[in-house]
Amino acid sequence: MQIQFGCAQWNYNNEGGKVVPITWDSSAVVNAHMMVCGKSGSGKSHQLKRAIHSASRTSDGTVRFHVFDRHGDLGVPGESVVKFSESTPFGFNPLEVNPDPHFGGVRKAIQKFISGVNRTGSHKLGPLQEALMRRLLEELYASRGFNKDDYRTWVPQDSYEIAEKMRGKESRVFLDVPYAQRDRVKELGARWDGDLKAWWVERDAYAGDLLMWDPKVVFKVSPTLADAVAFAERKMKAIFLGTNAAAMGHLAEVNRQAAAFHRIATKLNKESRDEELEKLQKRLEEARDKAMSSYKGYLNTVETGRELDEVIHYRSMDVMTSVYERLCNLNAIGIFRNTLPPHDHGAAIWRYDISALAADEAKLFVHFKLSQMFDDARQRGQQPCVREIAAVDEAEMYFTDDDDNMLNTISKEARKFGLNLWAASQSPAHFSEDFISNLGAKVILYIDPTKWDASARNLKIERKKIEHLRPRYNGLIQIINNDDVKSAYNLTLFPKEGA
Ligand SMILES: Nc1ncnc2c1ncn2[C@@H]1O[C@H](COP(=O)(O)OP(=O)(O)OP(=O)(O)O)[C@@H](O)[C@H]1O
Ligand SMILES: [Mg+2]
Repeated sequence: MQIQFGCAQWNYNNEGGKVVPITWDSSAVVNAHMMVCGKSGSGKSHQLKRAIHSASRTSDGTVRFHVFDRHGDLGVPGESVVKFSESTPFGFNPLEVNPDPHFGGVRKAIQKFISGVNRTGSHKLGPLQEALMRRLLEELYASRGFNKDDYRTWVPQDSYEIAEKMRGKESRVFLDVPYAQRDRVKELGARWDGDLKAWWVERDAYAGDLLMWDPKVVFKVSPTLADAVAFAERKMKAIFLGTNAAAMGHLAEVNRQAAAFHRIATKLNKESRDEELEKLQKRLEEARDKAMSSYKGYLNTVETGRELDEVIHYRSMDVMTSVYERLCNLNAIGIFRNTLPPHDHGAAIWRYDISALAADEAKLFVHFKLSQMFDDARQRGQQPCVREIAAVDEAEMYFTDDDDNMLNTISKEARKFGLNLWAASQSPAHFSEDFISNLGAKVILYIDPTKWDASARNLKIERKKIEHLRPRYNGLIQIINNDDVKSAYNLTLFPKEGA
């Protein structure tokens, strides 16, 4: 796989137009990570596009390019593009469980989700919110049959099989009806599906009294963000309005009455006068009756047997509310959908047009997509050559200081798994030192004079070389090949457009 960047400017100017090509070759470079930087309008997106086009044409179809396009200006011939916005149905499920026993699982899915959540909004989740979000999600997965401690439960049902069984039933809502309430649900118009073993009503009819039964999950699939929102909402309602609060009230009453009973019983032993004894006996009986009826009330309100736990874990309504709101906000973002982007499998270049997303949404999108690509790459194992390139324009948007920043992780760890990163940004100062020191190639385009000193230091280039740069005309290109690890920066003339 090769990129023809242009020709050496020195030879061209001093040797009568001699063309010494500046070529990047994936089989010669120390690694295929690359950075492009330069002032706005210097031609970064243009060079990124040329690089993708040139490399994809010489890759024998063995390399897939994932192009994250923030401005909708990275279109390349032969690509397959999908636009993400509020009005397109495409997206992905951030709660998808990878069933691999070594690389996947419920805990990893939750961790990945939480680290994504922490990238959005103005602040990270606090320790209490994070603990509660984790517990909530663990319970949600458990309710779907995904047990965090048992990898055998991480395999979802086959989507083809689900589609077959659901054919013609797409508009139904299945209800979670306890056996004892079957007559009541039938009275309200629900019907029994013998194949799927569940009561159901048409989606439009799911209203009024029928809402007392939650929708039932008839197939085992990863929960979605919308499921997480609904799950949190039900929990809040239960705690706030009713079931558990009632159970707790009764239980407290049981304890109060039992204590009263105990006090009287002790007193009885000490008292000797008959009338006093009779009075106390009566109060004792009353206390016992009250304790028994409270206890009965408690037993009647207990539904799941986990009420006590829940009240303890979810006791802070503030924390619960903030976690719930965070989930709702995420769900409102247009990228968490269940229809996977319909990229053409025959195309080498998959472009993700994220120009219509808000900045936070785009960040989240790139974070989730890159972390999914990194997980897939690790699972694929070591590769002798490049398999995937993630091309990220406007990369400064996605860089953060934390350890689990995906751009840093990929530049440090993904090469051996065949996954490489091409990142473009306006200033080298946007990239971490780790990132810059891991690059196999750097393309420096025109830099603003106020940044010459800083860039020279940052990139270890002589300042006078930087002074030769002209927008859209030339660039300083450093390609570090295996046999020449000291590679200098080459001042490279770009071909004239259309040449
Ligand atoms: N080498 C070139 N030859 C001809 N036209 C070019 C060249 N490089 C860039 N251009 C054109 O110049 C304009 C600006 O380039 P480009 O969009 O790539 O800049 P950029 O560095 O990505 O800017 P921004 O940071 O604002 O995104 C575009 O219209 C592009 O087609
Ligand atoms: Mg650009």
